[in-house]
Amino acid sequence: MSIHKLVSILIAVACLSAAATSRSARDGVFTKAQATRGQNVYNEECAKCHGQNLAGGESSPGLAGAEFLAKWQGKPLNGLFEVTRTTMPADDPGHLSRRQVADLMAYILSSNELPAGEKDLESSADTLNDIRIEGKK
Ligand code: HEC
Repeated sequence: MSIHKLVSILIAVACLSAAATSRSARDGVFTKAQATRGQNVYNEECAKCHGQNLAGGESSPGLAGAEFLAKWQGKPLNGLFEVTRTTMPADDPGHLSRRQVADLMAYILSSNELPAGEKDLESSADTLNDIRIEGKK
């Protein structure tokens, strides 16, 4: 086998495994039911500051729309998850379970018009680090 052929095979394998291990928020990474659970948590814990439709409030940023997406574009979902888990709700941070925060991520993605899929979003850091935030196509 020539060295060129070997190199192109190695590149192909690397590309395939990258595609298999890295997902985009566009790929249907949560379920509808999960987004609904997240909405319930949101209405109880977050809406008073971030607004009923995630549009933001007096001093709280919006969690849906172009500005929000531009800020998080290309970053791993784990970053948004950890900001939420450790600093929110701002008036009583740190009491939400990982499961509740995963449900909130589902609701936030859904509110940014990203599609639901077949499986719930998991709350492990490995899974969340593997998903890039991207706006809808
Ligand atoms: C008491 C008001 C308040 C509550 C309740 C609250 N937040 Fe916030 N949130 C804020 C403020 C203020 C900021 C901006 C903090 C900063 O910039 O340092 C913020 C920032 C954020 C951010 C970062 C946004 C960005 O683009 O950087 C996220 C995500 C977020 N909140 C999610 C939530 C979620 C989810 C809940 C409910 C579990 C929640 N917040 C509850 C006030 C609140």
